[in-house]
Amino acid sequence: MAIDSHSVMLGARLRQRVKQNSWDLDAVLPIDYAISPDIFDRVPREVYTNFCNLLSRDVYSEGDSQPLYDYILTRRDEMSSEFLVMLNLWLKDELKHYQALRRTYHCIAGVSFAEMNRQFADRIHEIEPIKLVLADEFTLLVTMMFDEIGSVYSYRRDLWEYYRHFGAAIQKIGHHLVKDEGMHFSNAAELLLTHHQHRFGEVQELLERISGLEKSLQKYHQTFFLDHVQEQYRFPPQFNSVLIQLILARLGLVQQPDRVELQSLWQWVPTGSRLVPIFAEGHVDI
Ligand SMILES: [Fe+2]
Ligand SMILES: [Fe+2]
Repeated sequence: MAIDSHSVMLGARLRQRVKQNSWDLDAVLPIDYAISPDIFDRVPREVYTNFCNLLSRDVYSEGDSQPLYDYILTRRDEMSSEFLVMLNLWLKDELKHYQALRRTYHCIAGVSFAEMNRQFADRIHEIEPIKLVLADEFTLLVTMMFDEIGSVYSYRRDLWEYYRHFGAAIQKIGHHLVKDEGMHFSNAAELLLTHHQHRFGEVQELLERISGLEKSLQKYHQTFFLDHVQEQYRFPPQFNSVLIQLILARLGLVQQPDRVELQSLWQWVPTGSRLVPIFAEGHVDI
């Protein structure tokens, strides 16, 4: 009885703090969805090729959430019950992203699901290189904020450069990805604000160390966190410092970066790039 009332209380508290963007993948992009041939005729060749390359990476990074989750669960005794409930919701979303990107990759590049299974099974998920961020629940949450907000801006850029060219269903997938990653960022913030305020003096230095670690990694180690290392060239040099300010602002520690600075994160164009994002009004807000 006592356990039941505790679970009910925990459930009610979590509903206030931890939110989930609910959407049905089958309704948005059925497994047998086919893109109409006129869309392929319309899309510039370079956009098509780049999107295939991008998906060949992003599909599997989303699936890497499972080994990260499995690793964290081996240390579940160190984690709070709220964190574990949040992590379960997070995993469900990330695995949905994996399925969504598999479907997207399949209908755009024609890669079979069996081939994707083979590719994923060959991955080696290394924990050791990212040990710094796995120290405890606090470092996991701060890293999650860093990683998820990076994904928000990365997917926002992808949405404008690629997803929106391939019809309403694929565009909708891009919108959901942006929104879900924004919610993961926010959920991690809420848990930090609730349980870890006494360590807020450490947040900025930890974020600088996470950013430094990401820059020093030679490659992405296929353990979900710090996957941005594989696409740093697509983003402006100030990307991480603006993200850090945004995280600190979400925790109430500094002022929010200004709008122009935030826009530069996804609208910046590398010198010589022929893929120019469209600076349209009405982009997705988190
Ligand atoms: Fe994701
Ligand atoms: Fe996420």
